[in-house]
Amino acid sequence: TPQERLRNFCIIAHIDHGKSTLADRMLQITGIVEERAMRAQYLDRMDIERERGITVKSQAVRMPWQVDGVNYALNMIDTPGHVDFTYEVSRSLAACEGAILLVDAAQGIEAQTLANLYLAMEHDLTIIPVLNKIDLPGAEPEKYAAEIGQLVGVDPDDVLRVSGKTGVGVPELLDHVVQTLPAPHGEAEAPCRAMIFDSVYDTYRGVVTYIRVFDGSLKSRDRIDMMSTGAHHELLEIGVSSPEPHPTPGIGPGEVGYLITGVKDVRQSKVGDTITTSIRGAQQPLAGYSEPKPMVYSGLFPIDGSDYPVLRDALDKLKLNDASLNYEPETSTALGFGFRVGFLGLLHLEIVRERLEREFNLELISTAPSVVYQVTMEDGTEVEVMNPSDFPVGKVESITEPITKATILVPSEFIGAVMELCQSKRGSLGGMDYLSEDRVELRYTLPLAEIVFDFFDQLKSKTRGYASLDYDVSGSQVADLVKVDMLLQGEPVDAFSAIVHRDRAYNYGVEMAGKLKKLIPRQQFEVPIQAAIGARIIARENIRAMRKDVLSKCYGGDISRKRKLLEKQKEGKKRMKNIGSVEVPQEAFIAALSSD
Ligand code: GTP
Repeated sequence: TPQERLRNFCIIAHIDHGKSTLADRMLQITGIVEERAMRAQYLDRMDIERERGITVKSQAVRMPWQVDGVNYALNMIDTPGHVDFTYEVSRSLAACEGAILLVDAAQGIEAQTLANLYLAMEHDLTIIPVLNKIDLPGAEPEKYAAEIGQLVGVDPDDVLRVSGKTGVGVPELLDHVVQTLPAPHGEAEAPCRAMIFDSVYDTYRGVVTYIRVFDGSLKSRDRIDMMSTGAHHELLEIGVSSPEPHPTPGIGPGEVGYLITGVKDVRQSKVGDTITTSIRGAQQPLAGYSEPKPMVYSGLFPIDGSDYPVLRDALDKLKLNDASLNYEPETSTALGFGFRVGFLGLLHLEIVRERLEREFNLELISTAPSVVYQVTMEDGTEVEVMNPSDFPVGKVESITEPITKATILVPSEFIGAVMELCQSKRGSLGGMDYLSEDRVELRYTLPLAEIVFDFFDQLKSKTRGYASLDYDVSGSQVADLVKVDMLLQGEPVDAFSAIVHRDRAYNYGVEMAGKLKKLIPRQQFEVPIQAAIGARIIARENIRAMRKDVLSKCYGGDISRKRKLLEKQKEGKKRMKNIGSVEVPQEAFIAALSSD
């Protein structure tokens, strides 16, 4: 297809606002998937996803569409919907000339969608604002058209109205895509430059890499270079998806497609990287590439220690399809053998943990999420700390923590509650805008450490679930932080160490000591629980000594009962960890680490 008849777009939407339904409807209306096949395929897809544990949904689909008798090719590119994947979203956007801003006509825009809209605007994409689900009785198209009209800078009457479910307005939307989005304009004769916007591991085909060609072209059997690493590969297959893969001899400027080189790990095909041909290759890569960098670390430990090899294999598997997943073995006195795992953010952590538990049948305990701190010692050495128990000993000059720019959308009646919460989390207000009479956008700078703690839960509970949040790590700041240790009979328990703001150290210590006191059973002797900053004790509790031997109540009783009790005690012992001479049931660690 000549460039002037190509259109590349993505759909920006909040989860549940109907992106998949609309996309499926487009496939059906453009005739590439029949209605009956669509339903069957949709179901299949779910089964396969469950079975294989991978997303087989296509990352880009090519659809034919005719306007005024002229044939066009529309490329629809999928964008990840999650708050932690801003970089991936930005690369999907960079592959497009335009974006459909899809908003549920009964809900209005959400913070994450707003953040992605701003991102799309920064990339100079043409925005098509669309209200979805207009068939719903609760839809309020007038109200929300005014809201998004104002955001995008169009007249509310020009906000399209569709229903992905019934198909109303969808053909008009496709016409609109053709008429308002600019065609791509790459240089056909220039050395090839293609950007990777997604790469997906497939059990049968290896890594499938999705690309947008900007200049030049790629042909099957070409030898290619990954510009960030200089690695060479041969193109075994290149093609377009519609939505099944269709191999083609090659793809030219402005086109979107996929390629297969036989690599087995998505790390060898990095999102944002530029691909060029080995012969007559480009000198300059496309702008915008960056390495995925974990922002949040947490220890993951199997509750049953014998599951450790299963956890290792499971992480190795997930890694094939997740370039931002990072891990190394970690040993904890309290929790045994596990892994220190780096994530892009809290949501990423939750997704990975859930997949490990569901797909690999693992029961896991995770330690409190920690961000990466830069610690400068008085002697000038600098240490990167991603695990509080690795905090350096010695005199600390300063500690730097990552900070985020956060966007919060909330009904105006909750402004006060949100401000109070952000204040208590060391936030500073950057700005505030009314989207409409009753909805407000608040912009805050907040330490990442505060967000990964329990910010989102508190935000939801203080706004009766109405607030929505988006955040993006941007820079760092020096802060008055300290490491708090929890000691059992003078022995530090690594899993409970935390780096917190000095003002909050006391509260953390008191809370943790109180929790542990409730969770650890009495021993033969008194056990002090202490919270300490360095050598200074800031909080203390005591577990009083047990008065009687467990067997005492059996004296005179029959022998089998006594044996049973001993057996039971042995059983229980297996799940005990010794911290110094204190026996702590595994359950106590689990309960203390789970957030209520
Ligand atoms: P994720 O895949 O979770 O990101 O969600 P999504 O945004 O792709 O939404 P999805 O298409 O799965 O739709 C979410 C829910 O809204 C489903 O229950 C759909 O049936 C429903 N839905 C989608 N479009 C419409 C519509 O136009 N009208 C009505 N009434 N319901 C719709």
